[in-house]
Amino acid sequence: MKKGIIVYRSRYGATKKYADWIKEETGFDLVEMKNAVADEVMQYDTVIFCGGIYASGIAGLSFLRKNRRKQSESRIFVLCVGASPYDEKAFRELKEHNLKEDLKEIPVFYGRGAWDESAMTFIDRTMCGMLKKVVAKKDPASCEPWMKALLEASGKNCDWTDKSYLKPLFECMEND
Ligand SMILES: Cc1cc2nc3c(=O)[nH]c(=O)nc-3n(C[C@H](O)[C@H](O)[C@H](O)COP(=O)(O)O)c2cc1C
Repeated sequence: MKKGIIVYRSRYGATKKYADWIKEETGFDLVEMKNAVADEVMQYDTVIFCGGIYASGIAGLSFLRKNRRKQSESRIFVLCVGASPYDEKAFRELKEHNLKEDLKEIPVFYGRGAWDESAMTFIDRTMCGMLKKVVAKKDPASCEPWMKALLEASGKNCDWTDKSYLKPLFECMEND
């Protein structure tokens, strides 16, 4: 089997940055999800899926869902990238929401991404604008961490990406 591959889906570049750092560290191949061919990906010993989080969904997991059975021989890891600071409860809920049934056992890791409304597509900017209005009216105590982060980052250009977020992933890969 071939050594390892990173398959990523990134709208605005933060997830790609993490995917590039993983490539640097591991020497694995790197492919953007839209160019990934399932029958080729399944030939790798290790597959790391990296996807941005948009409206509580981890991008690109449909590829994994469709091809999970084909990849039964591969070690699979998921890295998701969002605007929220890391929060254990929110992360557990995100995992439960996104990785169900036969994906439940896959180790999932988190990297904090970036936020730049000026770089967003019109649709994303509009959606985030609507979200901000909803969140602003909420009781702060009932807001999810990513909602608070969204309000704090509003109108700013934030980049929270940091290589240290990858440490738990690398440790898990070594011990697996
Ligand atoms: C439409 C939209 C929805 C988002 N929803 C979430 C969310 O639910 N949770 C979160 O933590 N971040 C959310 N974000 C922030 C992104 O996850 C963050 O910007 C991340 O860096 C995106 O990765 P990318 O730069 O690879 O596209 C959202 C961003 C956009 C544009």
